[in-house]
Amino acid sequence: MNGTRGTLIAFEGGDRAGKSTQAKQALQWIRETLREPAVLWHFPNRHSATGRLLDTYLSGSTELTGQVAHLLFAANRWERVEELWQLLDSGSHVILDRYAYSGVAFSVAARGLDPEWCLAADRGLPSPDLVLFLDLDPQLASKRGNFGEERYEQLVIQQRVRQFFLDRLFQSENWVRISAEQPPDQVQLQCRRAITEMLPRVRSLPLKLLW
Ligand code: TYD
Ligand code: MG
Repeated sequence: MNGTRGTLIAFEGGDRAGKSTQAKQALQWIRETLREPAVLWHFPNRHSATGRLLDTYLSGSTELTGQVAHLLFAANRWERVEELWQLLDSGSHVILDRYAYSGVAFSVAARGLDPEWCLAADRGLPSPDLVLFLDLDPQLASKRGNFGEERYEQLVIQQRVRQFFLDRLFQSENWVRISAEQPPDQVQLQCRRAITEMLPRVRSLPLKLLW
């Protein structure tokens, strides 16, 4: 423990918005320019037992009821929560490529589940200091490479997901909307700006819990 906690930064948005690329570049920037420890996690984590099952669900080879899928996505986060707290306590920043917001948005949009029921499964997880919402018109997303490969990569679902992000989730002060229609370098600059602005503001404060 170096006395300063790490921060929790989540990238969210629809499929093909460029989250993974932007998250990776932000990681590199924090490590090399800010010279602070940082790790990048992807959710779902497809390497655990729950993640392997979710992988087959997303690829379409396994059928699950909406509730079971939702709880598995949440379990896939809960199973790493101890490690997450340890990293943050030790002073490492943790960047998340999707988090509980995707959990709720997709279960509501694609499986028609009740939002309040969905929120409950992630209640008590550490709440990100900053959510970078990479916003992309689903029409444009659908024209990007590989769109349509996985279960939820359908235009109507993506449109509902985006609406849910904008209407229900994009209210709290820790959300920053960044247009993912811009060139990737511009998107990255805005991500860095938001992180730079957030860091001094939150570090002496304890992390909150969802929701
Ligand atoms: P995604 O980040 O798109 O993985 P990849 O980069 O490998 O394509 O995540 C896969 C899908 O899982 C995506 O459509 C959103 C969905 N999802 C949920 O439905 N619930 C969740 O809790 C999470 C984290 C993702
Ligand atoms: Mg995807």
